[in-house]
Amino acid sequence: MLDLHCHLFPDMDDGPATMDETLSMLYIAKEENIDLIAATHHYMEEQQTVAEYLASWEEKHKQVQEFIKAEDIDLDIVMGAEVLISPFLAQLEGLESLCINGSRYLLVELPMLDIPQYTEDVIYALRLKGITPIIAHPERNHCIIKDPNLLHSLIEMGALGQVNTSSITGLYGRKIRKCARILLGHNMAHLIATDAHSPRTRSPRFKKAVTQLEKWFGSKYSQVLLYENPISVLNDVLFIREPPIKSG
Ligand SMILES: [Fe+2]
Repeated sequence: MLDLHCHLFPDMDDGPATMDETLSMLYIAKEENIDLIAATHHYMEEQQTVAEYLASWEEKHKQVQEFIKAEDIDLDIVMGAEVLISPFLAQLEGLESLCINGSRYLLVELPMLDIPQYTEDVIYALRLKGITPIIAHPERNHCIIKDPNLLHSLIEMGALGQVNTSSITGLYGRKIRKCARILLGHNMAHLIATDAHSPRTRSPRFKKAVTQLEKWFGSKYSQVLLYENPISVLNDVLFIREPPIKSG
């Protein structure tokens, strides 16, 4: 499995606090058949520059790599960030370096409670710059839970959607699980990732979600979501997308 959204490094954000917790997450990830993790920590324009984020990311990466080597864990870690949307995000200096594994794909977070008025403008501006935004866990956004079709126009503009494994398995409740199913079933979400934050409740789990996905959509579409799409992101190639469909 390829986990393109995970808060893995210690003491970077609200993810693991210590290296021990990071190590426990890595062991869980291996048990869950995860071979690659994009370490996508929260990035907020107001709190730090891109250069500052990159410097702390590199430092933590080096430390974690030493443990991975010492413990002989077979798992790759690649660059990433979960970037909170802001009105002038597309103009942010160095933004491209926050993309996943040096690709054109950027994980973008909407606020939990609303979809800001400037969202479409920001997506348009990012697309003009050649960046493809991946909306992180839209199934958890309160407005999208009420009306999943609010995501439709953003996907039509070229954004992608990423659903959390824990939303699929019901960790956040029935409404979010239902919303995840609708988005995936209507080509409004294209990637599955753990968004893990710790070795405890929000841990890097994949297996149960894979079983559920196969029940919902069959193995062929699950393969697209679990392998083909994330591989296209990691290799920075375009993938053929089915047009989004509005839910009934
Ligand atoms: Fe996250």
